[in-house]
Amino acid sequence: MSATRGSDGESAKKAVLSLDKVSKTYGEHNVEALKSVSLDIPEGSFACLMGQSGCGKSTLLNLIAGLDKPGAGRILFDGQDLSGLSDESMTKLRAGKIGFVFQFFNLLSTLTVKENVELPLELNSSMGKAAREKLVIETLERVGMGARLNFYPAQLSGGEMQRVAIARAIIHKPRLLVADEPTGNLDSQNGESVLALLKELNRDHGQTIVMATHSSEAASHCDFVIHMKDGSIVNIDE
Ligand SMILES: Nc1ncnc2c1ncn2[C@@H]1O[C@H](COP(=O)(O)OP(=O)(O)OP(=O)(O)O)[C@@H](O)[C@H]1O
Ligand SMILES: [Mg+2]
Repeated sequence: MSATRGSDGESAKKAVLSLDKVSKTYGEHNVEALKSVSLDIPEGSFACLMGQSGCGKSTLLNLIAGLDKPGAGRILFDGQDLSGLSDESMTKLRAGKIGFVFQFFNLLSTLTVKENVELPLELNSSMGKAAREKLVIETLERVGMGARLNFYPAQLSGGEMQRVAIARAIIHKPRLLVADEPTGNLDSQNGESVLALLKELNRDHGQTIVMATHSSEAASHCDFVIHMKDGSIVNIDE
């Protein structure tokens, strides 16, 4: 199934991500979490995954972010087949091209806002200290957190923590931003501001985003909604 009806036509945007009959079964309890899922995500789109708890949203996001491997099928990311990559190459690709935002933020509590956001650069880039610092501050300003550089996560609201987590996920300018229920742990006001930020990143910076959500309000910000049920895609609404 394609995320855009015209994806086979000449005017279709290039798919940054293509899944071809991807399946995933979790070993111990033999749960078929994904059943032969095929999907194209066009470059620059804001896609949303919806469906009941347990339908396979997080499983799908983990596979496309390279955090886990499919049991069968192919995942092409930026023209590269993920299933053929070693763990080391996968880690490298993820560090360069993919950002992940989690429901529970996953910030390191002993590091400040600035240090949390700088971490991916320290691990993966040859940038000098001054250039890193400049990029960290610019990115935090872009997500509206320029006034909280030296705060610790415990000193922030949930919405602010998620903004910092988004800054950390986009600091290396990833081709793809994956967000698993980024507003799931936020009140409605904080949720709205995080959604507005994601929307802005997509609209003004062309950031491709795939987001899982339970909220139809969140889904209304997306270009298309992929509805899942029992490990399959049942419909795509544009
Ligand atoms: N590590 C695991 N081992 C065994 N089964 C798992 C594992 N992770 C997920 N599952 C099962 O796979 C199915 C899909 O789980 P998944 O986390 O992808 O659902 P989800 O759509 O993200 O749900 P939610 O909306 O609650 O986050 C579920 O039935 C779940 O129990
Ligand atoms: Mg989930």
